[in-house]
Amino acid sequence: MVPPMTDVLAFIDANRDRFRSELDDFLRIPSVSAKTEHDGDTRQAAEWLAGKLRAAGMDAELLETTGHPIVLGEWRGAGPDAPTALVYGHYDVQPPEPLEEWDSPPFEPTERDGRIYARGSADDKGQLYMHVKALEAHLATTGTLPINVVVLAEGEEEVGSRNLVPFVEAHRERLACDLVLISDTEMFAQGLPSLLFSLRGLAYFEIEVRGASTDLHSGSYGGAVVNPGNALARIIASLHDEDGRVAVAGFYDDVVEWDAKTRAQIAALPHDDEAFRAELGVPTLVGEKGFGTLERLWIRPTCDVNGILCGYTGEGAKTVLPSRATAKVSFRLVPDQSPAKVGKLLEAHLARVTPPGARVELRELHGGRPWKASLSGPAFDAAAEALEEAFGTKPVPMGGGGSIPIVVEFEEKLHATALLIGFSLPGSNLHAPNEWFPIENYEKGIGALARLYQKLR
Ligand code: BES
Ligand code: MN
Ligand code: MN
Repeated sequence: MVPPMTDVLAFIDANRDRFRSELDDFLRIPSVSAKTEHDGDTRQAAEWLAGKLRAAGMDAELLETTGHPIVLGEWRGAGPDAPTALVYGHYDVQPPEPLEEWDSPPFEPTERDGRIYARGSADDKGQLYMHVKALEAHLATTGTLPINVVVLAEGEEEVGSRNLVPFVEAHRERLACDLVLISDTEMFAQGLPSLLFSLRGLAYFEIEVRGASTDLHSGSYGGAVVNPGNALARIIASLHDEDGRVAVAGFYDDVVEWDAKTRAQIAALPHDDEAFRAELGVPTLVGEKGFGTLERLWIRPTCDVNGILCGYTGEGAKTVLPSRATAKVSFRLVPDQSPAKVGKLLEAHLARVTPPGARVELRELHGGRPWKASLSGPAFDAAAEALEEAFGTKPVPMGGGGSIPIVVEFEEKLHATALLIGFSLPGSNLHAPNEWFPIENYEKGIGALARLYQKLR
């Protein structure tokens, strides 16, 4: 008898072109969760995905929320004694703008240099769909899956997952699992598969500074009345010190020192600061003193302005004293910082640094807690083996600078362990124009995931 895994891998090989063209169909649906004009498209992506889960041999349905629906696929034929994996991903994508910066249209997937260019190709449709195809390969060749599997795909990850936390709470039993599997992050480099040891958290705010009740002539009033633009600039400048540290009192109190082993593993990774600098087109790299680039990106917290709005920004000059100024400011957090506490600290900081005459208001936009993995245990070993077999190289441990707020919630509410295996590459333009996903990773990754499901039995 032919061992089943050989059949499964042969099925993946034989269906390579179809797997590609189906992904293209998925990528053509502009499921931009942030924009109400795309609500119909977002729902269509959910329905399309549910249809593909059914075609693969799973039960699937759309569960409504007050926002975009949740797609839930289920296959429990392995029985109550077998382990259950919850596969999480998102079918929504970031807005594609600015459109003129794309070399091919964002929702017309285009192949160039072994890459699929399209919004969502890497984040996260391409990676989510790899799981669907790995599951299909098992079901099509053996009629079963090695373990029980629940696929949960949400349509609001890119807008803060506000409906997912209550959903997980309300469906604890249905979502009960031993392991949460997520492919929504990066590999360290092409040909170098990776397993994630952390994700940063996020605390996102809007700071509004108000001055006079209306815009004023800057000659008639400038010098005697507060300028919210000037005041906001001072506030923003006060957020960092000369060493690149966040200057909000108490900000580092809950930051736990990372263990020496992980720091040594980070130091051992093949990272080249000079190549990284040159690729980004900056004269020098900056950041918190005392830490290397990868540490700054993965295991240290940050504060960044994400947008500023104030005064006249049109053509030419206008002498005006604006009545208000706003900034979007976000903090990336590391264990054991919490978004709620950072909000309180920031509020106290603003009260201290806001210049006289200005009134400041702080609004919380969204947040999520940081996550730290235990890189050990049977599921981790299974993933390491599966990746090595598929890519021909042992996976390296890496951190994630970005945030997936639901990961900690899954672990706590479902008492499960999360395993994050990313397949996109650094520089793949997530959230930016010309997002791409390597075809090699799509194809090898489906094989790696099929092997992983087998090894989790
Ligand atoms: N897939 C990303 C998160 C990510 C990217 C983690 C790269 C690690 C490396 C996810 O879709 C995302 O963009 N998350 C947002 C947070 C969310 C609350 C909007 C982020 O990190 O900004
Ligand atoms: Mn994502
Ligand atoms: Mn994203």
